[in-house]
Amino acid sequence: MHADLRHHGDADLVPGLVDLAVNVRASGPPGWLAAQIRGADLISYPDQRAARAAVAARHGRPVNEVLLTAGAAEAFVLLARALRPRRAVVVHPQFTEPEAALRAAGQPADRVILPYPFELDLGLVPADADLVFVGNPVNPTSVAHPAEVLRELIRPGRIVAVDEAFADCLPGERQSLAGDPDLSGLVVIRSLTKTWGLAGLRVGYVLAAPDIVSRLAAAQPLWPVSAPALAACAATATPAAVAAAEAWAVTLADERAHLLTGLTGVRRVRLVPAATASFVLLDTGIADIRTRLHQRGFAVRRGETFPGLAPGWIRVAVRDRGTSDRFTAALAEAIGSS
Ligand SMILES: Cc1ncc(COP(=O)(O)O)c(C=O)c1O
Repeated sequence: MHADLRHHGDADLVPGLVDLAVNVRASGPPGWLAAQIRGADLISYPDQRAARAAVAARHGRPVNEVLLTAGAAEAFVLLARALRPRRAVVVHPQFTEPEAALRAAGQPADRVILPYPFELDLGLVPADADLVFVGNPVNPTSVAHPAEVLRELIRPGRIVAVDEAFADCLPGERQSLAGDPDLSGLVVIRSLTKTWGLAGLRVGYVLAAPDIVSRLAAAQPLWPVSAPALAACAATATPAAVAAAEAWAVTLADERAHLLTGLTGVRRVRLVPAATASFVLLDTGIADIRTRLHQRGFAVRRGETFPGLAPGWIRVAVRDRGTSDRFTAALAEAIGSS
């Protein structure tokens, strides 16, 4: 029995309701970034060199450790197709595409389901797993696993694939492995989608040892990343862009703390308190909670399509304080109406 692995937050949007279901930065790309994207050369075939060099420099890595992809989603498919694990393991609850990609590639995947409060328990990961997918910070739990705990997962003969689509939600990218000096046994997957509000552009990248990068590249089609996407890659890798992302992460932390404080006061809510990303996860124990919230003007992401979560769990995007206050009041009322 598998949860619906291909269900995503956009399917939980309801026209006319306040969207707390989608976890992409709601304001979209800043003007300077949109201008760079619009200015891309559309006549020529895309040339990756500048973007790849910029990403390499941003993470202090050689260029041959960088693979640009059409979003993190393409990276999951490449890993599933190019690697031939004997025992792949996906640590849940987490974004479901890595498991979906493995299954679509005919690779069985075992699940490790972390119990509430969803901290990484190394003892639950089978010793013979030779490919382990883990998120950091994790969608939907918002938990960031300590970098040193993730490093303990690495061992000879095993690849640990860390999905860092939300890594820049943490000021200073604390817990990111993207700058680790030695990438042997480690694959880091990054995305421009979330922080930069670029879901429609399809751009991300993989940081891995050169032999893994070559194997993944061999599985890519020609020109997998468009010129506008490459322009975004180069533009967001500059020190000024990294500083802008950092400033956004600091504001986000403030707004998230406000939302968490409000939610703590709501009766019957079980929160994941260690939230670090642009969303929070909570359990109401009420199976029809989303319908009740719809009636009060809010769309949230259902939890139960994530393996390990039951109906009643919801993921809520962090927005401005006013929106969070209105949502908190609506949730209290929706729970009280039982
Ligand atoms: C944790 C996580 N990783 C990756 C992705 C997909 O990222 P991209 O848009 O770069 O394919 C998502 C999208 O929801 C996500 O939540």
